[in-house]
Amino acid sequence: MSKRDFVILTDYDKQTLSSIVDRAIEMKGGAKPHRGEDKALAMIFTKPSTRTNVSFRMAMHRLGGTSMYLGQETLQLSRGETIGDTGKTLARYVDIIMIRTFDHQDVVDLAAGSSVPVINGLTDLCHPCQAMGDVMTLKESLDGSLEDAKLTYIGDGNNVCHSLIHAAGIFGFSLTVSAPEQFAPDSDVLKPMQDRNSNIVVDSDPVSAVQGADAIYTDVWVSMGDEDEADKRYEIFGDYQVNSELLSHAKDSCIVMHCLPANRGEELTDAVMDGEQSRVFEQAENRMHSQQAILEYLLGTI
Ligand code: CP
Ligand code: NVA
Repeated sequence: MSKRDFVILTDYDKQTLSSIVDRAIEMKGGAKPHRGEDKALAMIFTKPSTRTNVSFRMAMHRLGGTSMYLGQETLQLSRGETIGDTGKTLARYVDIIMIRTFDHQDVVDLAAGSSVPVINGLTDLCHPCQAMGDVMTLKESLDGSLEDAKLTYIGDGNNVCHSLIHAAGIFGFSLTVSAPEQFAPDSDVLKPMQDRNSNIVVDSDPVSAVQGADAIYTDVWVSMGDEDEADKRYEIFGDYQVNSELLSHAKDSCIVMHCLPANRGEELTDAVMDGEQSRVFEQAENRMHSQQAILEYLLGTI
């Protein structure tokens, strides 16, 4: 079997991703994981993380393996060793590498040069593991089928939004993205997915965008690495808050999603985040189950 990486969702077809999501739901329900006792995961972080770090550690632990957190400051990466040389070295010790960093190309290069599977734990371009947990959350929360669902994303059209666009293109659900023009999703991400699924649309008006939505999703207005633009962003994103008023324009059964961490009072209100329709902590939990299934798949234990 050739080495598998998990760098971007578009590397995979619907059948493969669906079977990973279904396996995650099965394990959440109590199915025994396929053990990987002798397996080790190295996790490189050049950005902070709560969920990705802890959920991957616990997923690996539940598979019976081990994992290690490698913050950039603790690595020779901070003194100029290349990402490629770091990856080649780590591959001599461990069975799988996860990396969270800025430039997506670094992850592509790391995967190309590494003899062990590489997982993207978020780049400026996309966040595929987040979207896998989110598809799982959608499947669990919806009455009908995933294909018939409408998700509306409100806010910055960057990494998390990009992976949701990929997921909509692959899984076939409807997705409306409502972002200010300057922060619309990258057309290189959007166009090919619109060619696959004509129900992926952009609507800069949040009120019309949430009509008929089964789920509303938002993310921070200032992502990691965007801090220099914070003031400008607060001004532009002011009309894109997910609050009770906006939620009232969606279906009564509409759920609210956020990848977290949230900036309460900015992209969503306390009332919405803590309200009955919120599924944000289910999403956080599902990161662990879905990554357990991704690890099984990449390690070849399923
Ligand atoms: N959603 C997510 O990736 O959270 P962390 O930044 O805490 O890992
Ligand atoms: N868009 C956010 C997601 C955090 C999980 C960021 O990149 O900071």
